[in-house]
Amino acid sequence: MLFLYLLAMKKTILVSGGSKGIGRAILERFAREDFELITCARHAEDLEHLAKAFAQARYPTPHTFVADLSKKEEVLHFAAEALKITGKIDLLVNNAGAFRPGDIAEEPEGQLEWAMRTNLYSAYHLTRALLPTMLERGKGHIVNICSIASLKAYPQGGSYSISKYALLGFSKNLREELKDKGIRVTSIMPGATWSDSWKGVDLPRERLMEAEDVAKAVWCAWDMGPSAVVEEIVMRPQLGDL
Ligand SMILES: NC(=O)c1ccc[n+]([C@@H]2O[C@H](COP(=O)([O-])OP(=O)(O)OC[C@H]3O[C@@H](n4cnc5c(N)ncnc54)[C@H](OP(=O)(O)O)[C@@H]3O)[C@@H](O)[C@H]2O)c1
Repeated sequence: MLFLYLLAMKKTILVSGGSKGIGRAILERFAREDFELITCARHAEDLEHLAKAFAQARYPTPHTFVADLSKKEEVLHFAAEALKITGKIDLLVNNAGAFRPGDIAEEPEGQLEWAMRTNLYSAYHLTRALLPTMLERGKGHIVNICSIASLKAYPQGGSYSISKYALLGFSKNLREELKDKGIRVTSIMPGATWSDSWKGVDLPRERLMEAEDVAKAVWCAWDMGPSAVVEEIVMRPQLGDL
């Protein structure tokens, strides 16, 4: 009985794509606040490494699921399994996403469809699957990890940038819709941030941001009083865009 009560009191965060990079840094930040942690990724071995590293750090054990969120049926299955854990999600972070460079005229056929499925539809379907429980409780917080590419066109941005503009559009509409429902919505637009996406790039460490700083921004947005919402956060490396 006491166990069920404590589980209900504990806050739950779901971060999509939490095995690496920004998603993992967000999980670590909230692990330190003793949240119940739920995440997913496509590669099981990365999720196993995550669980081992969290055990070594004496963080709460994350609930991990293998799911490809570019596929609607896998999004819905993941959402249903996630809801079985505590029956509620207090904070949803739509983070899963991927970058492939390309100019519109030259990128491979199908790149737009791939980018929209991976960076937009994943967040749209996951949010719609989890929203009913937030609406029932009249509380919750949804953070969408957009990008500077949601605000600005740049060479080789192509379909990635189009999908990130769309994600920001999704996030703004959601904010408007949920204003009077007790549910906060935050769009975060990070600039270049060290993660696997930048593996092998020959740049000084300080030229990009650290994933932990994006995680801190998520924490600050979460840690507001009930009458305030952080609608948008734009973050760039101190030296500016690359
Ligand atoms: N790093 C930057 O400079 C930067 C800047 C602005 C915005 N962002 C955004 O921040 C988010 C995280 O990026 P990151 O740089 O941290 O990337 P990352 O290190 O490559 O991590 C991406 C995470 O998402 C998961 N993922 C990717 N595609 C997925 C799919 N189809 N289904 C489920 N999980 C998937 C990955 O695991 P699997 O590969 O195993 O699926 C991984 O856990 C993305 O939305 C990205 O667009 C990044």
